[in-house]
Amino acid sequence: MAEPLFRTPKGTHDVLPEDHQYMTYIKKAVRHRCRQAGYKRIDTPMYEYRGVFERGIGEHTDIVEKELFLVAGSKKDGSEPSDLALRPEFTAGICRSYVEHGMQQLPQPVELYAIGQCFRYDRPQKGRYRQFHQFDLEIIGLKDPSLDAQLIHVVTNILEDVKILDRLTLQLNNIGTPENRKAYVEGLRDFFTGKEHRLPEEDRGRLATNPLRILDSKNEDTQILLKAAPTLDFYLSEESKQYHATLKEYLDAFGVRYVENPKLVRGLDYYTQTVFEFWDQSTGAQNAVGGGGRYDGLIELLGGKPTPGVGFAGGLERMIWHMKEAGVQVPHKDHVDVFVAQLGPEAKKQCLTLISELRELGVHTIGALGEASLKSQMRLADKFEARYTLLLGKMEVKEGTIILRDMKAGKQKQIKYGQAIPQVTKLLGETNLDTYVLKDQMGDVDED
Ligand code: HAM
Repeated sequence: MAEPLFRTPKGTHDVLPEDHQYMTYIKKAVRHRCRQAGYKRIDTPMYEYRGVFERGIGEHTDIVEKELFLVAGSKKDGSEPSDLALRPEFTAGICRSYVEHGMQQLPQPVELYAIGQCFRYDRPQKGRYRQFHQFDLEIIGLKDPSLDAQLIHVVTNILEDVKILDRLTLQLNNIGTPENRKAYVEGLRDFFTGKEHRLPEEDRGRLATNPLRILDSKNEDTQILLKAAPTLDFYLSEESKQYHATLKEYLDAFGVRYVENPKLVRGLDYYTQTVFEFWDQSTGAQNAVGGGGRYDGLIELLGGKPTPGVGFAGGLERMIWHMKEAGVQVPHKDHVDVFVAQLGPEAKKQCLTLISELRELGVHTIGALGEASLKSQMRLADKFEARYTLLLGKMEVKEGTIILRDMKAGKQKQIKYGQAIPQVTKLLGETNLDTYVLKDQMGDVDED
């Protein structure tokens, strides 16, 4: 095969039809579980003023410092400086929207969910893309450990629905209030004073800007030093400890299993107290399927009144990878029920109406694809794995008949043209007709 002229840009990928079946399945689980729990769907723009992310996620996080995807100014020549950035995640944009639309006037908490693309200018590698999909859940406006527990429970239900929960472990920690963390950061700085030269350059930089990031450094020397460093739990206030203990009681009540991980800090600055991640049991944190936590200071940072929040985001690409690894078969509706083959201009015209009527009734139908011979159309019907073929040649048009062929059985019969639709729908069975949208107007209206 010739080398293609263009390929997808580095770090991006096509979601081909096969993967879409997985994606649709995940989205259905997300929508279903979110509706059950009272979440409403929100879509924020794919790009925002970069300040939303810089303020919200934190200027000295990897996501903002290294991975923010800036949008070129509206002038094509790039002469306008850009103050826009593609969203690297949903939380900051959703909180911006909460403030902008005065959602504090609504009954609290406001429960929102989103599904869509996010962008991080990361170094692409397995499971790490520059454009990827997240589903995101947020509970804003009220603080209580029962909300953290309920959110985590909804997420575990979704992961269970798509049959990957047993491949993951829920890592749980409480990183305390900003005051607790400030004291801890001082403690860490004191500890590293005089030991800076033993840190690699990147971690020395982190010590100056965001010492907590040192905790999940991949560097071996840093990790050895950290063994003797003070730990965050020592700096936690009674309130944080109590909050965490109650959350664990509630998770136990839900039957949600977790692993306590005092080292879990997360890569975004807005977190307070509860943080959690779902790790791949075999490979660990590098490929977390999802993560989240409480962010009680974020809305205020974005110009709103002090408002607590808790949320989670899962990565669809990583979920799909797990589903495939686990051999999960997803049901889909991409099959062809009927192939309509035709010969001659009259037959071709007539079969267009037939195709349209079949489709209206919920029969997946293709046909009238060109001028090929009947024989090659039959071969095509086979390749499309159609269950039935309707054949309309010059003779049949003249006689007012049509040939109905069962592709699997290899048998066919000539029937009256008017019998084609009733016979096909009967053979397929009423319940197998794809009239989902008509039957269930209130159902999955937001199919995307
Ligand atoms: P996060 O841990 O940065 O959290 O991302 C959540 C998930 O998105 C990751 O666990 C991963 O599955 C997926 N993900 C992140 N980056 C990439 C990438 N480059 N390629 C593929 N998948 C990726 C957040 O985004 C927070 N907003 C979660 C949250 C919501 N916290 C509170 N509310």
